[in-house]
Amino acid sequence: MKNHYILPKNPYNSLSEFYEEKGEALAYARKMSAQDIIVELKASLLRGRGGAGFPTGLKWYTLFQDQSPKKYVVVNAAEGEPGTFKDRQIIRKNPYSMIEGALIAAHVLKCNEVYIAIKKSFVTELAILQRAIKEFKKKGHLNKVSIHLVAGPDDYLFGEEKALLNVIEGIGPFPREAHYPPYEKGLFSTSASANPALVNNVETYSRVPEIILRGAESFRAIGTENTPGPLICTLSGDIKRPGVYEVPAGIRFQDLINEYGEGPVGNSPIKAVLPGVSTGVLVRENFDVHLDHASMESVGSGLDSCSFMIFDETRSAPRIAQEVAKFLYRESCNQCTACKTGLGISSISLDALFTENPDDKLIERAILGAKSAPQSNRCYLPVQGSILIPNLIRNFEYEFRDLLLNVGNHKPVLLPFIVDYLEDRNEFIFKNAAMDKDRPYEQDWAPEDKNFMDRGTF
Ligand SMILES: Cc1cc2nc3c(=O)[nH]c(=O)nc-3n(C[C@H](O)[C@H](O)[C@H](O)COP(=O)(O)O)c2cc1C
Ligand code: SF4
Repeated sequence: MKNHYILPKNPYNSLSEFYEEKGEALAYARKMSAQDIIVELKASLLRGRGGAGFPTGLKWYTLFQDQSPKKYVVVNAAEGEPGTFKDRQIIRKNPYSMIEGALIAAHVLKCNEVYIAIKKSFVTELAILQRAIKEFKKKGHLNKVSIHLVAGPDDYLFGEEKALLNVIEGIGPFPREAHYPPYEKGLFSTSASANPALVNNVETYSRVPEIILRGAESFRAIGTENTPGPLICTLSGDIKRPGVYEVPAGIRFQDLINEYGEGPVGNSPIKAVLPGVSTGVLVRENFDVHLDHASMESVGSGLDSCSFMIFDETRSAPRIAQEVAKFLYRESCNQCTACKTGLGISSISLDALFTENPDDKLIERAILGAKSAPQSNRCYLPVQGSILIPNLIRNFEYEFRDLLLNVGNHKPVLLPFIVDYLEDRNEFIFKNAAMDKDRPYEQDWAPEDKNFMDRGTF
């Protein structure tokens, strides 16, 4: 496998097999000073793969500079974005890079506790992680550091980093106040110590070992100046060959869908693509965009988690907007009133568009509701709605207008919530999220739920 690529053709069966192919980055890194590791990481220009693309070296440096006596390393393996399966695919095929990345972070921060937070429903991945961590222990890599495996709920907010820490603490998937980012208030903090936490995504940690072993320059040789290295993309929806693909950043989107996805599944051309639910839609005129943060932003979209949900011409854009609004509304947690209210107004207005003789003010209400949602918001979720819902309406305004005139085909669509991936068949298994929650989420985290959380300390 090429250097810096982390998804092998066949899963690694053991840590030794992984070391044979990829080398022993952890042992190498442990001989390096924390400063030298950070210099290399900063020079690599690695950007977080959890969605926002934050510079990883800078994040590690901030935590490294902190004087707190106790720090934590946390792996965000919650993977809750609709249409993504990349983190689970990494764990299935190569859990070792991620664990090594987290242990390198622990070495840099002189921290002796690593938490891996993952959904309890990801049973396959939980079992793989348990096995892999035991291998690290057997090799003596965990003599001075423990790894805790925490299994959390299915809620989308579990993946939000401040909610993730609250889940680990047994409080539930509720984001903390915005002024408590993980580097300010980490895990089990007390008045005496903030115990800051480094939170990174599965793919982000997985990129670290080879950057340290082979050097920043070789990493930057892949991808673009703005977004170096490979990216792992999930292609789902109206595409012939759905799947999880590791590609160099900067690849043209058109090439990704034609060369990897083999183009649209039917006779209809692709109309719209959502790269997640926090950024603008990618429309046909922009399919020649390069997949890096800057290029995607220049066309009003973003890389997000590279979970490309593909919709062809037969899909109704108002139905897509309806599903996005419903999802964000249901998953918002009601801690900040404007968020729930605004997303509720938007979602209910979009639902009402599909009733007989819809009022033409509904479109405006859907936009205004979404735009009013982020007020005193603890987390980014309502901002996502305020970006994507108006963006879909603006891009496909004619379809919304048609709807008011009862024109057009507006069959319901579903967002792809992937529960399994059969790689040899290029097939995803989906669940209908709407069936899981038949009412908006309330603060009903039951204390007994905590019992399933601990999946072991190693
Ligand atoms: C509503 C919401 C859900 C999120 N879900 C995830 C998730 O499932 N996995 C993830 O890695 N990041 C998720 N994030 C982003 C995290 O808050 C955080 O930015 C990320 O873990 C940082 O990792 P990175 O710097 O490696 O990208 C979510 C953010 C929000 C607002
Ligand atoms: S902004 Fe919305 S989702 Fe985030 S914490 Fe507040 S109510 Fe919950």
